[in-house]
Amino acid sequence: MKTEILQLLRESGEYISGQEICNRFGVSRTAIWKVMNQLKEEGYAVEAVPNKGYKLTCIPDVLSESEIKSRLHTKWLGQEVLCLLKEDSTNNRVKKMAEQGAEKGLLVIAEEQTAGKGRRGNSWSSPAGTSIFMSVLLRPDFLPEKASMLTLLAAMAVAKGIKEETGLEAKIKWPNDVVVNGKKICGILTEMSAEMDYINHVVVGIGINANMEELPAAIRETATSLLIEKKQLVSRASLLVKVIEHLERYYEIFIETEDLSRLHEEYNSQLVNRNVQVRVLDPKGDYTGYARGINAFGELLVEKDTGGLEKVYAGEVSVRGMYGYV
Ligand code: BTN
Repeated sequence: MKTEILQLLRESGEYISGQEICNRFGVSRTAIWKVMNQLKEEGYAVEAVPNKGYKLTCIPDVLSESEIKSRLHTKWLGQEVLCLLKEDSTNNRVKKMAEQGAEKGLLVIAEEQTAGKGRRGNSWSSPAGTSIFMSVLLRPDFLPEKASMLTLLAAMAVAKGIKEETGLEAKIKWPNDVVVNGKKICGILTEMSAEMDYINHVVVGIGINANMEELPAAIRETATSLLIEKKQLVSRASLLVKVIEHLERYYEIFIETEDLSRLHEEYNSQLVNRNVQVRVLDPKGDYTGYARGINAFGELLVEKDTGGLEKVYAGEVSVRGMYGYV
C-alpha cells in the first residue's frame, strides 16, 4: 500500500485528503498515518494540513522498492525488485537468484557494490549513493549465440533514458558503452549461463555514473558522470525507470525476429563512432577503417582503409578511436 500511496501523492502533486486516500484504498486513517511516517523515515517530506490533507513536498534521491515500483509501468521487467544498500555485485546476486529459480524480469539494484565487475575481468568503481548499479534477469528461449545482442539493446535503452531524463546528447560507442560529450557514462556487463543450444539465463548489468561529483583519477580522462556534464543532480529513480521501460520495449521488438532488423537503424542513429575512423584491435592483426554502423546481427561494419568491408563481431575485438577513447 505504501507504493500506491506514494504513487498517488507524487502523480497528483497536490493536497489529497486523508478521507480520499481511505476511500481509495479501503484502509483506516491510522493505517495512512503509519504510511506517512514510514515515508518520512525514508527521507520524504510529507506536509499534512488540516482540512486539506497530505502533500509530498520533497522526494529524496533514494532507490527503494516503493520508489521504483510506484514509478514503473512495465509488463514484466522489474515487476520483482530488490533494492540493497550494499552488495558485492548486483550481477552476482541476480545469478544466484536465477540459480534458485527466480523468474525472468527480476531487477536487483544496489546503492553500493563492494566488488563491482566490469567487462573483461575489470572492476567497476561503485561508491555508495551516487550512481546506478542494477542487474536484470532474462530467460530468453533463443540460441546462446544471439545473447550478445541483448547488450546492444541495453545500450539503446540507457542512451534513450539519459536523453529523456537529462536532455544530454547520449550516444553509443559500439558495442555497448554509453558516452556523453565523448566520455563514458555507462558500462554494461552481460553474463550468460547456457548449454550449447540452450540458455539457462542471462544477466544484464548496467552501471550509470549519475551524481558522482568526480571520478577516480585513473578513469577521469575517459569517463564522466551526468552531474558533471549537466551540472545538475539527476533523479536516479526516474532515470532508472525510464531505462527499464525502454529495455522491456526493445526486448519485445527484438524477440519477434530474434535479430536487430527492426532496431539497427535506431541503434546506428545513436552510434558515436558512425562514419568515424577507428582502429580495430583484432587478434589476427589490427587495422583501421571507417565504422559505418551495425547490421541486423549487431556486427559493426568497417570499411577498411586498405579496401573491403569487414564485419566485426563484438566478442573478438575492440574498437578504438584513432586519437582516443571514441
Ligand atoms: C564495463 O566494463 O563497461 C561494464 C560495467 C558494468 C557495471 C555494472 S554495475 C551493475 C552490474 N554489477 C556489476 O558487478 N557490474 C554491472
